Amino acid sequence: MKNSDQGRRAFVKRTGAAVLASTIGANILSAKAPKHLLNTDTLKVGLIGCGGRGTGAALQATKADDNVVLTAMADIFEDRMKESHALLTQENGAKIMVEPDQMHLGFDGYKKVLESDVDVVLLTTPPCFRPAHLRAAIEAGKHVFCEKPVAVDAPGIRHVIESAKMAKSKGLALMSGFCWRHDDPKNATYERILDGAIGDVQAVYNTYNTGALWFHDRKPEWSDFQFEMRNWLYQNWMSGDHIAEQAVHSLDLMSWAFGDQLPISATGTGGRQSRTEDQFGNVYDHFAIVYDYPDGRKGFHFSRQQKGCSRAYGVDMLGTKGRCNIHVSNNHEIIGRKTWKWEGERNNMYQTEHDTLFASIRKGEPFSDGVRMANSTMLAIWGRMVAYTGQTLTWEEALNSDETLGPKIDEYSWDLNWPMKEVAQPGITKFA
Ligand SMILES: NC(=O)c1ccc[n+]([C@@H]2O[C@H](COP(=O)([O-])OP(=O)(O)OC[C@H]3O[C@@H](n4cnc5c(N)ncnc54)[C@H](O)[C@@H]3O)[C@@H](O)[C@H]2O)c1
Repeated sequence: MKNSDQGRRAFVKRTGAAVLASTIGANILSAKAPKHLLNTDTLKVGLIGCGGRGTGAALQATKADDNVVLTAMADIFEDRMKESHALLTQENGAKIMVEPDQMHLGFDGYKKVLESDVDVVLLTTPPCFRPAHLRAAIEAGKHVFCEKPVAVDAPGIRHVIESAKMAKSKGLALMSGFCWRHDDPKNATYERILDGAIGDVQAVYNTYNTGALWFHDRKPEWSDFQFEMRNWLYQNWMSGDHIAEQAVHSLDLMSWAFGDQLPISATGTGGRQSRTEDQFGNVYDHFAIVYDYPDGRKGFHFSRQQKGCSRAYGVDMLGTKGRCNIHVSNNHEIIGRKTWKWEGERNNMYQTEHDTLFASIRKGEPFSDGVRMANSTMLAIWGRMVAYTGQTLTWEEALNSDETLGPKIDEYSWDLNWPMKEVAQPGITKFA
């Protein structure tokens, strides 16, 4: 039935007109591809950004459903793309159908993936590219998995919000990489919290305190830009700084506890104490931000990337009738009207998020958390703004900032010489 008209009609009905255009192409079988896996029900995936997370996401996507295959890839570094392809082939070879002419190298590789007949794209480059890649994907009519953070500055966030609305109006799925929203223990805990298990949530303390992260030693053949691109974490215009690149997960968990209501204003501090060498670009290694919510409620955020220090990755909530303690990877406990502890089996949240995304496409009810992913990312960008400048800023001020950190998408080339800004100094660095 899968190759019959009846099968095709049923599939089109389920997935909507937006998918039709790209799935018709799925009838044209590649001469080399195993034909039993390419038919009108096949969902083809393109991977843009073939690093650690992209490779993981591609594996999860191809395992989300019996009939999902990877057919296109793009990266700016050949070694990263080849390593990713080799790993994916080793782990799930039957679903990896990327012909050599669908392995696109270069800053415009994403365009070639989008021009191909993929149905779904995985956007897993460093975050500086995300707003432009996302817009291009939505304009091309693709469903999207979009890693966090979804932008590095406020203009990027505003662009993403528009794209999220476009995706919705076109019937395209858009799922963010805020993976904790797909973690069974967290869903069970937050369901109870939002149902009043600790009364009204008054304060949320959240942490992402970790050690040093990866670093690629410089090779003689690398230009300055290649070195920076290999080590994108340490350039705030590429990563958004670590509060956006990593600690944004904790801010998303804070936001969830407040029912995703937005704070009114934020104040904070931060700096770099242990990661001060030039090789670490211009990012901070610690942040402490206080978010003021309506009715005097508060969110307290601490994050650091400093080796030799104690680690913490959790959320503690205080409510009018109890409290909740979450240590993200194990303990989930509510001490309130009714004491409760998560005692179930953990799921693989990364797999669950892809299972959910692909099931939503199959059902014709495309998953969408696009505006929420933009707001959660903005909490981090806003935190960085108040820490860098030493100013208290409202949500509106931060969201309406016109500061763009990096070049426009079409300006990227290996000849780019984008000047790195000085490390921010509170009280001296101006809010823009
Ligand atoms: N949700 C999570 O738990 C989680 C975990 C890790 C990373 N991430 C996020 O995933 C993203 C990628 O992180 P990573 O750890 O995989 O980094 P990475 O450096 O391992 O991978 C990034 C890849 O993108 C490639 N790339 C860079 N610019 C590109 C461009 N313009 N076009 C195509 N490819 C390009 C790089 O060469 C590299 O292969 C980041 O936004 C990160 O914050 C999320």
